[in-house]
Amino acid sequence: MKKPWSGRFKKPTDILMEKFSASISFDRRLYAYDIAGSIAHCQMLGKCKIITQTDSKKIIGGLKRILKEFESGKFECDDRLEDIHMNIENRLTELIGSVAGKLHTARSRNDQVSLDIRLYLRDEGEEVVQLIKILAKTLLVLARKHTNTIIPGFTHMQQAQPILLAHHLLAYIEMLLRDQERMKDALKRINIMPLGSAALAGTGFPIDRKYTAKLLNFSEASHNSIDAVSDRDFAIEFCSTIAILMMHLSRFCEEIVLWCSSEFDWLELSDSYTTGSSIMPQKKNPDAAELIRGKSGRVYGNLVSLLTLMKSLPLAYNKDLQEDKEPIFDTVDTSKMSLSIFNGMIKSARFKKIPLNRLDISGFLTATDMADYLAEKGVPFRMAHEITGKTVAYCIESGKNLQNITLKELKNISAYFEKDVFEHIKLENSVQKKSVYGGTAKKQVEAQIARIDKKLRNKPKLSHSK
Ligand code: ARG
Repeated sequence: MKKPWSGRFKKPTDILMEKFSASISFDRRLYAYDIAGSIAHCQMLGKCKIITQTDSKKIIGGLKRILKEFESGKFECDDRLEDIHMNIENRLTELIGSVAGKLHTARSRNDQVSLDIRLYLRDEGEEVVQLIKILAKTLLVLARKHTNTIIPGFTHMQQAQPILLAHHLLAYIEMLLRDQERMKDALKRINIMPLGSAALAGTGFPIDRKYTAKLLNFSEASHNSIDAVSDRDFAIEFCSTIAILMMHLSRFCEEIVLWCSSEFDWLELSDSYTTGSSIMPQKKNPDAAELIRGKSGRVYGNLVSLLTLMKSLPLAYNKDLQEDKEPIFDTVDTSKMSLSIFNGMIKSARFKKIPLNRLDISGFLTATDMADYLAEKGVPFRMAHEITGKTVAYCIESGKNLQNITLKELKNISAYFEKDVFEHIKLENSVQKKSVYGGTAKKQVEAQIARIDKKLRNKPKLSHSK
């Protein structure tokens, strides 16, 4: 098989080398973007009279046929043609003859491959934004259901203060909204058109880069040809955005696993998102949550792969860059799958009804409220903290807790305690008191639900419209 670059070569490529340098097994998935890029480039060449309209039409006709061949599964890729770009060009020559060779005027695979990845990530980025939105909406529905459900909030995995389950869920929505913003921002830098940079120096042909950018719905053309062919910042940004997103999902998954344990027993996942054990018949394992948690690790790995790939790469294009594809593709696949599975898992999950006294296992969830109560009476907070600490210590020694200690016992510790303290340390009252903006009081939580709801209803501004 004749390689498009074979002119200066006398010996054939070593068979193993051929396999080694081929990327077609994975970059095949870029075919539609490669063809779309080639069609736009060809249209531009025709418009600028660099090739004739007749040739331009012929080439575009051939490219469209190739697209159909891919879509009907008829296109056969060949390892010996290295990558998606040369496979398509070779087929184009088979279909329309030597005029196919005009397509590569004023173009190199270096700007071509950058274009393909940008087009690909632009679509995938928009999809990720939508999937995040779907998940945030699911969580919002769940939060709405639980504006009266009190759970212990934790610090150091120790019971800390009572909070609304809705508030806890909204914390994850906040993370997701930031992930969405980050992706939208990354999309701005993905949406830059590199064609015309050619190998690295640009081209002498009188091409119209702005026209190509317009045809492909890019916001602008890249400004430096050397940077354009060697830059993969946009892919690193994409993967780092996804790595942060996966970290959020993983944290949530960790909690879901905990909540499903018989020790917690707060949550039941649907049969559809759990699996059994091959030996222990009673098991219902939260595999979906564990797998998403696990997959966050491989996404971090992909990000580190890309960063390591780019470290020390001299300008401009180097074949190392071919190694960018698998981590990028895997990051896209893993995150989209994880978002969809997470959504299904949480949508079909059921929070159990947990009696308040079962939640307050420590019996001291509202110790801070007791200290606040004393502080409100004028006791300096540090002293109020000390008195409450002593009260907790007394309770532990005498097998009591804040729910069943008597006023007499309290007064023995401090004269500042009055009967009204018991109202202050009720779980419900504790929650309702946290009425600061962003706090867990129901009113505040409802205000946040309304704000997020409005945000999620806004029609997204796409970085490119088709
Ligand atoms: N398959 C190559 C890649 O993914 C395309 C660019 C090849 N360019 C070159 N000068 N060999 O990076």
